[in-house]
Amino acid sequence: MKRLLLFYGTTDGQTAKIMKFLDAELRGLGAGVTLVAADAAPGPAELSEYDGVIVAGSIHAGGFQRRLVRWVRQHREALSARPHIFLAVCLSVLQQDPAVHRELERILTRFVRATGWRPRAMKSVAGALSYSRYGFLRRWVMRRIARKAGGVTDVTRDYEYTDWDELRRLARNFLSSCGAEPELAVASMATAVSATGEIT
Ligand SMILES: Cc1cc2nc3c(=O)[nH]c(=O)nc-3n(C[C@H](O)[C@H](O)[C@H](O)COP(=O)(O)O)c2cc1C
Repeated sequence: MKRLLLFYGTTDGQTAKIMKFLDAELRGLGAGVTLVAADAAPGPAELSEYDGVIVAGSIHAGGFQRRLVRWVRQHREALSARPHIFLAVCLSVLQQDPAVHRELERILTRFVRATGWRPRAMKSVAGALSYSRYGFLRRWVMRRIARKAGGVTDVTRDYEYTDWDELRRLARNFLSSCGAEPELAVASMATAVSATGEIT
């Protein structure tokens, strides 16, 4: 049985939902999974018992959760030594504007610089616009950003953009990448990262 670690940072809960979904999928496929939230626990000090690691964080105002960044920095070598994928949960991946995509690349490049970890597989995952979870100010800010981006501005409900079928495939591919051919399956799913840390 493959043993996998799923470690994540979340602010409004969508990344937690995504990782719980992957947890259930991977267990259903026969893996042994440890799911750890960066803000609930310090995270395993040792990765030697894991055959693969999925790391995920959400982007807020251009950055990821601090505890996630700190843990990744501490474990960057162990992460690189085993099959892994980094999932960046955000909304800018939904937009067609090249300037927004360049900004997303900059955010990911900053993450690589801040952690010293250059994931071989990195994927931007569409998150959610969770108006009901925001306080007054954040709701106002997000509504303004959404309006500017041509998105939804009805704050009386939440909007989920996550593609669950794609994540189901990702779980399957990741698990097979932890077997005989570590890189191939994930590379076909994920965005490649260039030498400078830019996504291509
Ligand atoms: C205050 C705030 C700032 C955000 N900033 C960004 C951003 O800079 N880039 C982006 O792509 N998405 C941004 N988002 C969208 C979040 O990444 C998205 O809502 C995601 O689903 C949040 O995941 P979480 O619920 O796990 O925290 C922002 C959301 C909020 C509420």
